[in-house]
Amino acid sequence: MKNKYDRRDFLKSTAMIAGATAIGTAPINGVFASNDDTIKIALVGCGGRGTGAAFQALSTKQNLKIVALADAFRDPLDECYKRLVARFKDKVDVPEEHKFVGFDAYEKAIALADVVLFATPPGFRPMHFAEAVKQNKHVFIEKPLAVDAPGIRQVLATAKEAESKKLNVVVGLQRRYQKNYRETIEKIHNGAIGKIQSGQVYWNSGGVWVRPRTANQTEMDYQMRNWYYFNWLCGDHIVEQHVHQLDVANWVIGGYPVSAQGTGSRAWRTGKEYGEIYDNHAVEFTYADGSVIYSQCRHFEGTSNRVDETFQGTGGKVYLSASNVGTLWDKDGKEIFNHQGKGDPNPYQTEHDELFEAIAKGEYKFADGERGAKSTFTGILGRLATYSGQVLSWDEALASDISLMPDKLSWDALPKVLPDANGLYPYAQPGKTKVI
Ligand SMILES: NC(=O)c1ccc[n+]([C@@H]2O[C@H](COP(=O)([O-])OP(=O)(O)OC[C@H]3O[C@@H](n4cnc5c(N)ncnc54)[C@H](O)[C@@H]3O)[C@@H](O)[C@H]2O)c1
Repeated sequence: MKNKYDRRDFLKSTAMIAGATAIGTAPINGVFASNDDTIKIALVGCGGRGTGAAFQALSTKQNLKIVALADAFRDPLDECYKRLVARFKDKVDVPEEHKFVGFDAYEKAIALADVVLFATPPGFRPMHFAEAVKQNKHVFIEKPLAVDAPGIRQVLATAKEAESKKLNVVVGLQRRYQKNYRETIEKIHNGAIGKIQSGQVYWNSGGVWVRPRTANQTEMDYQMRNWYYFNWLCGDHIVEQHVHQLDVANWVIGGYPVSAQGTGSRAWRTGKEYGEIYDNHAVEFTYADGSVIYSQCRHFEGTSNRVDETFQGTGGKVYLSASNVGTLWDKDGKEIFNHQGKGDPNPYQTEHDELFEAIAKGEYKFADGERGAKSTFTGILGRLATYSGQVLSWDEALASDISLMPDKLSWDALPKVLPDANGLYPYAQPGKTKVI
């Protein structure tokens, strides 16, 4: 059955229309241009989250199928394909010639799709997003959106291009699609607890996986596999994970920090298997309206876990967390709103439900690119502040030309950060390291 506003035509025509209409305005009219009304999806980055995102896309109510897979390595691609076929046999149409491996795999997969899901390590996001928008595709892009200032500037430019082409862009900051956050933050924006003055946001946990070095690996191969611990791929955990909380802070405040200062180190995770990233950061972000956010993230095994956000306003306070909680109190401590989260939809699924429904209806509804880039940059600014030990302004940090990306991407090329004779990697020394 065809939609009133044909999706296939929308997929084509959006790319040709210059000058975006506002998000949420009427669908784009057009002439039916193809007999095939199936939304074609490509997945770039077939690891844990990529496979999960593909599952969520294929679980939406729309008529769609996966037509291409791309990964740097063959083994995660094969594993992902196996899992997709086992669960969604009829919606997986990926012949051998549509399975692409290597650093240039993304371009070929993008070409075959209407919508592209990106879930590689974030270092590649700027170039991948740019290529998708150049090829006029709608996208779901996992957070974070870059790892350094040049990458963020590229993503901001691509986000603008996507807006002018009316390409839907959903970013995997799923709290933006989660009911308790949406409801509670709407109340804050309507003045429920006055003007926000301060907040505290946390991602304190035991850390993540290590992928040990294996025999005959090139340095590039090793860093690509063990990507979490290298900034050109990951951005450090203040960017890779804590971006969720920093995004909530920016959302609640309705702006982005103007400066940051903080402290961090490698206190616990000091071995060579942990590359160059820190295991703790504590940063104070100051916003243009004078509000201040205290952010803390650490990866220490055996310590207390905390992943949530609190904010204080002139008329009360709020507590938010991903476990479907959103509670508001007035200035006397009386509870004035308590989101009942039982049975809330899974926000990872909601992202895809909303994105693919819009695409199927031929609607231009999502432009998450700019805010995703700016919240990612909030994390990068925090990292630059802890690495340098200096007070850094948003503007000076965003103007930095320091790119972490290797000069060449190939399996025998060398990344910029290399181990010493003992296998240990250099890492930032506050007071000494030049970060901008
Ligand atoms: N929104 C969330 O809550 C959430 C949760 C988990 C992960 N993520 C994000 O998803 C992304 C991937 O994380 P993951 O846990 O799936 O990691 P992963 O290591 O399981 O998967 C990443 C995959 O990307 C592949 N890859 C690396 N470079 C590539 C390239 N240039 N081209 C194509 N493929 C490439 C890897 O080989 C691997 O298969 C990260 O950005 C992470 O922050 C988001």
